[in-house]
Amino acid sequence: MHLLPFLQELTQAVRETVADSVKNKHWKDIVKRKTTDLTWRVDCMAERRAIDFISSKKISARLVSEEAGTIDIGEEPEIVVILDPLDGSLNFTRSIPFCSVAAAAGPYNPDFNLKDIEAGVVTSIFNGETFYAEKGRGAFKNGQQLSIKPFTPKIDKPLLSLYVHGVGKTRYPYERLIASSKVRAIGSIALELCYIANSSLDAVLDLRGTLRVVDVAAGKIIVEEAGGTVKLIGEAMDRLFDVKKGLCMVAAKNEVLANRLSTTIGFEEEQ
Ligand code: IPD
Ligand code: CA
Repeated sequence: MHLLPFLQELTQAVRETVADSVKNKHWKDIVKRKTTDLTWRVDCMAERRAIDFISSKKISARLVSEEAGTIDIGEEPEIVVILDPLDGSLNFTRSIPFCSVAAAAGPYNPDFNLKDIEAGVVTSIFNGETFYAEKGRGAFKNGQQLSIKPFTPKIDKPLLSLYVHGVGKTRYPYERLIASSKVRAIGSIALELCYIANSSLDAVLDLRGTLRVVDVAAGKIIVEEAGGTVKLIGEAMDRLFDVKKGLCMVAAKNEVLANRLSTTIGFEEEQ
């Protein structure tokens, strides 16, 4: 089965549902309060659309999705799909036009790991920009191949997206990074990873330990296929089907920068 067109169709269908959701007067109702964030009705509508879409294609899939957790659709799974139906829900509910649908997939095996992912797609809800990659075939944005531009550390301070808020003290001394960087945290990790592939951001770091596989699976293959590096630490690496397990991440436009940032905060030493 060719995974890329399937994921492109899936993310497009979910994007349409998210865009249309505002016609439902309950779209912004809070349906769940989780430890780290909220679930709104629109999150559930998006996920429902994804499940219905996969079922309609008569594909047997193990779906790992943010709200539903891990569920099997159909009989014996042929593929694993890792989905964030709406990454950046808070932005969406506040009309901040930076959020996405993110989906990754690979052939099923019971010990499925992030390295088994063969394709990933991230679609921006607001402008429809679609980033995608297949293992060994490069990364693309709307049909144009992405190749990360070199970073020139002597001239520029790196532009980082840095997530450290809301968890008290992090394990890593990120204060050292702030002095030598320009910093953002835009609110949709999946799309921010694509912005590394696009050469817009130099790096994305999440040091909270709360990042989930659904947030990173699609973006990771897109960054790597564009020539960048994604380092992850955490329990979720071995327990992919448990969406509650958290990760820390250092992702950067090349290995040199990823290593430099990691060394600054002692990221490797914690492994
Ligand atoms: C969120 C976004 C955001 C990150 C949060 C995630 P969600 O995803 O990726 O950038 O700060 O930790 O939960 O909840 O909107 O799918
Ligand atoms: Ca989500």
